[in-house]
Amino acid sequence: MSQLIGQQIAESPVVQKLVTDLVNEVAKLNNQITGVREANPEMKTHGQAIIDQTGKVRGRPLNYPYVGSGSGSGVYVELEDGSVKLDLINGIGIHLMGHANPRVMAATVRGALSDIVNQGNLQPNKEYTMFLDKLVAVASRKSRLKYGWLATCGTMANESALKITRQKRTPARMVLCFKNAFAGRSTMMAELTDNPAYKVGLPEYNEMLRLPWYDKNDPRSIEKTLTIMKEHVAKHEGNISTFVFEPMLGEGGYMPAPREFFLPLVDFCKSKNIPVWADEVQTFTRTGEMFAFETLDLGQYIDLCTIAKTAQVGATLYTEEMNPAPGLIAGTFSGTSPALSAGIEIMNMLTEGGYLGSQGRIMDIHRKFVSALNTLNETTCKGKVQDAGGMGLMLAFTPLDGKKETVDKLLKSLFAKGLIAFSCGKDPVRLRFLVPAVIRDEDIKIAVKIIEQAIIEGV
Ligand SMILES: Cc1ncc(COP(=O)(O)O)c(C=O)c1O
Repeated sequence: MSQLIGQQIAESPVVQKLVTDLVNEVAKLNNQITGVREANPEMKTHGQAIIDQTGKVRGRPLNYPYVGSGSGSGVYVELEDGSVKLDLINGIGIHLMGHANPRVMAATVRGALSDIVNQGNLQPNKEYTMFLDKLVAVASRKSRLKYGWLATCGTMANESALKITRQKRTPARMVLCFKNAFAGRSTMMAELTDNPAYKVGLPEYNEMLRLPWYDKNDPRSIEKTLTIMKEHVAKHEGNISTFVFEPMLGEGGYMPAPREFFLPLVDFCKSKNIPVWADEVQTFTRTGEMFAFETLDLGQYIDLCTIAKTAQVGATLYTEEMNPAPGLIAGTFSGTSPALSAGIEIMNMLTEGGYLGSQGRIMDIHRKFVSALNTLNETTCKGKVQDAGGMGLMLAFTPLDGKKETVDKLLKSLFAKGLIAFSCGKDPVRLRFLVPAVIRDEDIKIAVKIIEQAIIEGV
């Protein structure tokens, strides 16, 4: 068979060299970004103008005075006012390999050289297949998940999952889910999300059956949640389409729960033929294994799993029994060629070695960061950096009095000093980080130093 033109382009030594040279040239420039830097006085006016314009065109100001310049290096990002920030939020957890990672960039450029910008479910290119192939291969190692379907984001991946479970359990409508859950921004995912601020003025569909999350201070927590689940199921027998959970409560406060908490719940669901759906939009690739269901050793219970964020596109994974009838899930877009190409590269980087496992870099970062925060809490910031923890690269602590106003002020102060963080949860509100896997030990020290200064100076 004569070689396809597409293959000739991908394998052309001239094209490969151009891509390498291009990425190296960009990396050379990006490598000048080595640490936190204040705004350049000459660029302040320009920086402010673009921030104001962004607020103007979207009808709402930015959360932070942040508009990126398109450059960065690892955990550091350059903004339009010439400042450089240490970015521990990464677009709410997208840039797992940091800013301007040369391998990710090269993959993105390779994707951009294909004939189309967006790929679709009707006419995919090979990256579509390669992405799903890799994802399903990794997912099926320790679960019964067998197929995947692409979507543009976590919300759409979740919509597909809910439709699948409802089709399989038709005419069941109700959903077992947790208090303080977050599931996305569509009409149904806003319903599943347990935050009134995210659905002001929307009608209630009353299809959610809430369960209390794990309370590490209550020895009866596991039993209490199971009892409530059983009550819901008894009251709505035959009308429950799924049990959905985030392996760690994300937006709800970065509250982890042990395997022993989930086990009786998923066991009970199995006995009642209720499909179990893990929403791993936030946890995918971050917990020390590719999936948090692996970290929690729950793979055999999972019927559906949704991912997005670090994958650069969304996807719904499902078992043989959950494979939906044709027509139920589709959509025009299934991710851009550059995003799919980058997503494949990120998964390859993670599974090639070094990052995963209890002794891998992800858990190493977790231990070092948590330990440094705990030290602050015991020394210079006594009692003001409480409850540091989370799962893998998702870290949080409760600062000061844990009140929203205090945490908002602290976030502003951290930003001004060069550290980008975010909040989660309510009562207490916690300060959270979505740490990139490429953070170095010295960057952790710098981040913790900034936190220490901001807290000591008072907010
Ligand atoms: C657990 C969880 N599910 C769903 C979503 C929604 O994903 P997206 O914002 O890509 O639509 C998020 C986003 O933060 C999430 O954390």
